[in-house]
Amino acid sequence: MTAQLIDGKKISQERLQLVSAAVAKRLESGLRAPCLAVVLVGDNPASAVYVRNKKSACQKCGIRSLSYELPASTSQEDLLKLIDELNGNAEVDGILVQLPLPEGLDSQAVLERIHPDKDVDGFHPYNVGRLVVKMPLMRPCTPKGVMTLLEAYGIDPKGKKAVVVGASNIVGRPQALELLLARATVTICHSATENLDKEVGAADIVVVGVGIPNFVKGEWIKPGAVVIDVGINRLEDGSLCGDVEFDVAKERAGMITPVPGGVGPMTIATLLENTLHAATLHD
Ligand code: GUN
Repeated sequence: MTAQLIDGKKISQERLQLVSAAVAKRLESGLRAPCLAVVLVGDNPASAVYVRNKKSACQKCGIRSLSYELPASTSQEDLLKLIDELNGNAEVDGILVQLPLPEGLDSQAVLERIHPDKDVDGFHPYNVGRLVVKMPLMRPCTPKGVMTLLEAYGIDPKGKKAVVVGASNIVGRPQALELLLARATVTICHSATENLDKEVGAADIVVVGVGIPNFVKGEWIKPGAVVIDVGINRLEDGSLCGDVEFDVAKERAGMITPVPGGVGPMTIATLLENTLHAATLHD
C-alpha cells in the first residue's frame, strides 16, 4: 500500500487565503493592517531563506512586515534594546526573532524579552505555560501547523497513540502539548530513549523533528500510521530531505507528509495566523 500524501502546500494556501480575507475585512472596517517585525541576526543562509519566505508571505496577505537585519557581532544589550523598542511600538503586532542566534547571544533571554502578546512564535515561557494549562494564547507555529494539517485531513488524535520524536522547544515539546490538548496518548522520544524503533512502531501518529536526514527508518512505521515529518535537511547534492526515510515509510504509512511541501509551508501560514491574532489583541 502506498500512503496518501498530506499536501501542506495546498492546505497552507487555503489558510493564507483566509488570512488575506480577514486582513481585507479589517481594512474595510477601518482597522490597521497587522504588522510583523522580523529580526534576523547574523548570516546563517538557511535562516535568511526562512526570513525571506516569511516576509514574502506577509506581503501576499496584506500584512506589513518590518525587517531588522543585524550583524553577527550584535551585542545582547543592543538586541534586547531593539526588542524593547518593538514592544513599545504600537504599530507592531508581532515580533519574530529568527533562531538560531549566533553564538554568544542568549536566545532564551531574548525570547523572554518579547511581550507575550507580540510573541507570534509562542516561545515565551508565558505562552508555553498557557499551552501547558490548556489555555493557549500564542501557539508555536510548527506544532500548530501540524495540528491544522491533521484536522484538514480528518485525523482526530483523540484516543490515538501519538509519538513525538525530538524534544526541542521549537517542535517536540510544544507538539506533544498540542497532541495532549487534542486528547492523544502522547510519548516523547529523545536522544536518551531506548528502543526507539519499538516506540515509533507503536504509534498511530508519529511526528518527527530531530534535524537528522532519514533518522526514522521506514520499517519502524506501524502499517497505516500517520507520519508527519518536520525535518528539512539539505543534502550535499543540494536536494532537501526530511527526518523520515520517506521512500520506505510511504509504503507502510496510511498518510505521510512529503519534504518539501509538507509541514514547512504550514509553519509560515500559521505565523501569519498568529500575527493576525496578535493584531486582534491590540485593536
Ligand atoms: N528557527 C527554526 N524554526 C523557527 C521558528 O519556528 N521560529 C523562529 N523564530 N525561528 C526558527
